[in-house]
Parts: sequence; C-alpha cells; structure tokens
Amino acid sequence: MKCTVCRGEALLDLRRHNAAFCAEHLTRFCRDQVRRAIEDFRMVAPGERVLVAVSGGKDSLALWHLLRSLDIDCDGFHVGLGIGEYSDASTRVTRSFAEERGLRLLECDLRSRYGTDVPSAAAVSRRAPCSACGLSKRHLFDAAALEGGYDAVATGHNLDDEAAVLFGNVLHWHTEYLGRQSPVLPARDGFPRKIKPLVRLSEREMAAYCIVNGIDYQVDECPMAAGNRHLRYKEQLAELELASPGAKAAFYFGFLREAADRFREAPGESGDGGPVPCERCGAPCSGGICAFCRLLERAGAPMAEVDDAPVAVPVTFRREPSGGAP
Ligand code: AMP
Ligand code: FES
Ligand code: ZN
Ligand code: ZN
Repeated sequence: MKCTVCRGEALLDLRRHNAAFCAEHLTRFCRDQVRRAIEDFRMVAPGERVLVAVSGGKDSLALWHLLRSLDIDCDGFHVGLGIGEYSDASTRVTRSFAEERGLRLLECDLRSRYGTDVPSAAAVSRRAPCSACGLSKRHLFDAAALEGGYDAVATGHNLDDEAAVLFGNVLHWHTEYLGRQSPVLPARDGFPRKIKPLVRLSEREMAAYCIVNGIDYQVDECPMAAGNRHLRYKEQLAELELASPGAKAAFYFGFLREAADRFREAPGESGDGGPVPCERCGAPCSGGICAFCRLLERAGAPMAEVDDAPVAVPVTFRREPSGGAP
C-alpha cells in the first residue's frame, strides 16, 4: 500500500477518502481536517483561548496536540472521575502528556473537590452511570472555562461519536437534541462556546495519529460504559461503513447541511424566562438549584464546605520559555 501523496510505504488506508497515508502525511491530513473544521464552523477566532477537555484517551490527547500544532492558545482540563484504576491511569497519562511537553494542565478531582465520585453519584441518582458522569463533566467544563476566562471548551468527540449520537437521536426522534447537535454551540446564557474540532476525523485515524506522534494514551474503555446504547450504535454504524465507505460522513454532514436548521430553537422560543444563577454554585440553570448541585446533594457530598474553592486547579505549568512545537 502506497501513500497517496509521496508514494512511500503507507500505514493507514482511508477508504472514505480513497486514500492511504504514511506517518508524515497522515499527520498532515489530520491537521488539515482540524483546520478545516475550525474554519468551516468558525470554532475559534484569532487570539482566542481554548480550554481542551482531556480525558487521557486518544481523541482528546490528539486534539490537544493538534490544536497546539495549529498555534491555537490552549490549556488542558482533566476531571478525576474516581472510577477506580481506570481513572487513576487516565489521570497519570494526561499528566505525563502535559509534563513531557511543558503544557498547562488544570484539574478537578471530584472526590477531593466535592467529596464524591462517579460510581457513588451514579448509585444515588436513578440515572445510568454515564448520564451522571456526563452531567458532572459538562458542569465542570463550563465552570472551569468561565473561571479561567477561556473563550471556548473543546472536546475530543470525533466523527464516529457524532454519527452515533445522531443515529440514536434520529432513531428515537429526540428533536430537542437534534436542534443542539452541532460541532459548535455558541456561547449563550452564561455558558461558554463548545467546539468539537475532530468531527471530520474517525476513531481509527485518531489512534493512528497518536501512535505515529508518540502519544501514549489510556487504551481501556470506561468500565461503567460497557454495553451502553451509544456503543451499540457505534458498532452498527461501523458495519455500515465497512459495506459503504463514506456512509457515516454522508449521514452526519448531510444532516448538518440539509436538516439541522429545521430543529433549531429560535431565540426565546423555549418559553422560559432564561437561566438564573444556581442558588448553591451560581452556575446558570432554569431556577433553584442546578442539576449538578442536586446530584451532589443526593450523593451526600459535603459541597457547602468547599463552595468558594476554585473548580480547576493547575497541576502543570508551562515551561518558561516554551519549546515551540508540541
Ligand atoms: P466521553 O464523554 O467519554 O465520550 O468523552 C467525550 C469527550 O469529553 C472527550 O473526548 C474529552 O474531550 C472529554 N472528556 C471525557 N472525560 C473527561 C475527563 N475525565 N476529563 C476531561 N475531559 C473529559
Ligand atoms: Fe463517564 Fe464512564 S467516563 S461513566
Ligand atoms: Zn507520504
Ligand atoms: Zn449548582
């Protein structure tokens, strides 16, 4: 198999692009795809600061690496979820990535900051573990970005993730979620902008990017997510992609182009009076106490004692002066 660009030995074929790449041209391809996503969806303006949510998995570490290689001013933010050895290993790999490259990493450890963790919060909530976990992460990403004055929060959701979420939302006609399914959600009502710069790249490409760029990542999947619906949709779409290369991208980008606008809520259409600050933590919410604080309360977390502490604390500082390339 030959590289489409240089005719050298290729290490990855991309059937949906009818191409194959060597290490150097795969790296360039990934960078071009991220640049294009950022431009097409106007994710980041010159001079803006981005907080990258880094789990320690291949996608978010590759994302941080890629954004830096595009000279975007960004720091990492990692949440310690307290899911046993899985979380410990994720934190270790995230810290090493930042330390080896002299990057600034902020952290929030659920147990030390709030006195609870995902398994305990999931046990008391009547939600699936991933739902309590997702709620906590979204809350903390927003809080950390606002606290640190960042313009946007970037997550490592890739094409496979977004296509699977879309598939689930279409299958069940969750129209309110379809209206919010976009690679960029503008800042509003006290929430920072959310961006997904990897939407043009697949999981397989991100794994290959990490390997050729010497990025060590957490290979294990979250043990609490095993068997969930999202993973099933991913497997089903992977089968479809195998039979029809490009089907996933056609489905997802076709939706954005042809249908997404039809599901968007017009400003003010939600009918409520807009968000008000949570009585406990001050985060924007629909009234009273926000969902995250309610979850903490049910989990018996002694949040009141640490109410004024920062959400995100730096664990790694940028070397002075920084060495340039990531
Ligand atoms: P997931 O919700 O596990 O599919 O992860 C989606 C994205 O959320 C990842 O690509 C990261 O950008 C972010 N993320 C997930 N887990 C964490 C974490 N523990 N700390 C920081 N960011 C995370
Ligand atoms: Fe959140 Fe697994 S990472 S439940
Ligand atoms: Zn090449
Ligand atoms: Zn709150």
